[in-house]
Amino acid sequence: MNVRGRFITFEGIDGAGKSSHIEPLAAWLRGRGHHVLVTREPGGTPLAETLRGLVLHQPMDALTESLLVFAARRDHLGQSIQPALDAGTTVLCDRFTDATFAYQGGGRGFDMQTLSQLEAMVHPGLQPDLTLWFDLPAALAAQRRAAARAADRFESESPAFFERVQAGYAARAAAEPRRFKRVDAAPSQAEVWAQVSAAVQAVLR
Ligand code: TMP
Repeated sequence: MNVRGRFITFEGIDGAGKSSHIEPLAAWLRGRGHHVLVTREPGGTPLAETLRGLVLHQPMDALTESLLVFAARRDHLGQSIQPALDAGTTVLCDRFTDATFAYQGGGRGFDMQTLSQLEAMVHPGLQPDLTLWFDLPAALAAQRRAAARAADRFESESPAFFERVQAGYAARAAAEPRRFKRVDAAPSQAEVWAQVSAAVQAVLR
């Protein structure tokens, strides 16, 4: 019988640097014999990637945005994440529901209770085994974003928006200290990697 795979999510405000650690972590885990699926949200299936394009580029209100990210998540879970976990695969997912609480709840100020209802509808009983929260002050993340790429609807938001998203993540981390591991994203990539690999080793034990 297969043991259920571990579900590890990567979170943090845009510019915190989480995405550069996902492929190195996948390679590190594969080197230790794990089957690994690397995926992302919104996205990860053809339908969810289509919804991602809408969410990132089309104007819409916060309820529509929340419904679309949860619709994408339902498809992603059913088609990809859950079958992989059932097969014993380690799933590394770039963002998950904590991002909805941080961005739609914190950033947009959308009703958290409605988000909790959608969460209960879309993934009752399923939470990540580990959430790596890349914590970087909003001002520093803004500097990193400015140097990086053309901004989408979220990346072009105000500093105040990112302060609220940051507060949203901090609240989620405080509410679930066993699942969340805070990664100080300010130091060098090598130092951040040391924190990431230590946190993952702790859940694999
Ligand atoms: P990414 O750039 O890290 O791939 O994430 C895409 C954007 O989507 C990012 O700015 C955060 C946003 N987002 C939400 O607003 N709500 C969500 O539930 C998810 C998963 C992402």
